[in-house]
Amino acid sequence: MNKETHVQTINLNDYQTLAQTLIEPAAWDYIMGGSDDEVTLRANRSAFEQIKLRPRMLVNGSARDLRTTVLGTPVSMPILVAPAAHHRLAHPEGECATAQGAGMAHTLMAASTFSTRSLEDIAQAASGPLWFQLYLYHNLELSAAVVQRAEVAGYRAIVLTADLPVLGNREKDVRNNFVLPSHMRLANFPDLIPEPEQNSISIPFAPTWETLDWLKTLTSLPIIVKGILTAEDALLALEQGVSGIIVSNHGGRQLDTALASIEALPEIVEAVAGRCEVYLDSGIRRGTDVLKALALGARAVLIGRPIFWGLAVNGAEGVQDVLEILRAELEQAMVLSGHFSLETIERSLVKFA
Ligand SMILES: Cc1cc2nc3c(=O)[nH]c(=O)nc-3n(C[C@H](O)[C@H](O)[C@H](O)COP(=O)(O)O)c2cc1C
Repeated sequence: MNKETHVQTINLNDYQTLAQTLIEPAAWDYIMGGSDDEVTLRANRSAFEQIKLRPRMLVNGSARDLRTTVLGTPVSMPILVAPAAHHRLAHPEGECATAQGAGMAHTLMAASTFSTRSLEDIAQAASGPLWFQLYLYHNLELSAAVVQRAEVAGYRAIVLTADLPVLGNREKDVRNNFVLPSHMRLANFPDLIPEPEQNSISIPFAPTWETLDWLKTLTSLPIIVKGILTAEDALLALEQGVSGIIVSNHGGRQLDTALASIEALPEIVEAVAGRCEVYLDSGIRRGTDVLKALALGARAVLIGRPIFWGLAVNGAEGVQDVLEILRAELEQAMVLSGHFSLETIERSLVKFA
């Protein structure tokens, strides 16, 4: 329950409805929008709805344990915060509030290169573990410096986003002529980027597989590749020695009509065959969605837009509540399907329609 507004927020849909009344319309479109006709954006939801659960009954169990690890880091549940730019669009404290909320839920946040608070400020505000998501700037030295700053600040992995060689065609932003409000900044580059570029949300430099070689010379942190949708690319990522793969279509914001992430997950899990950790994002809104992703082999899931909703409604506590709602839903779905621990969740729990 949000005390100020007296609107009940018992699930993520309620958070979405309330957040829309609190966020500027053009910022709302930027956060919520997808590319082209938003086919993939919708598919991220409909694909989960089409997968059915095969629950087991009369299972003997009591203690429910949702704790797990991601690259060896303990988290209280297999639900993490996805990297997303511009959290200050939803709350004045921006990514610092997000980091506090994630820490209060005892889980991990991945912070975006394009955060509106600096990576150092986020690390200082955080009580939980952090990953750093990397977009490259044309000036590779600047990018290298950011990676090294993240390592110094205590981030535990570098997440290289692979699915953004150019920005997707987000027509809502085109129509709104959306730019980051002038009082917000890409806080990781306070001095070095000229003013007009600070305001732009276009993406500067396309990474390639060779970028991973460059990255490995810069940091000893584990590397995760985000935005993989095929077994072929999962195998190339493994050849590059990555520690993790995030199966993702960027929340339907990049290539429209690309596969829903949950559709891509099985072939990637099969190709990887346990050689690195596999995570999933895009469209997670219910505990049953998390359960389906775990059943299909994801070690954990990440959530993007619902974090903005929690932030807008109630800052760090809103972020915590969004995460706790998903945790409670996952726990209930597990027990209803005969699972008391993450270990017993397996492929036979799901059936594709
Ligand atoms: C407003 C917004 C900004 C985003 N910014 C980034 C970013 O800076 N880096 C990145 O790798 N992904 C970014 N993403 C994608 C998310 O990491 C994630 O893949 C996506 O939001 C998951 O889908 P969901 O919103 O349906 O949970 C962004 C997503 C949104 C909605």
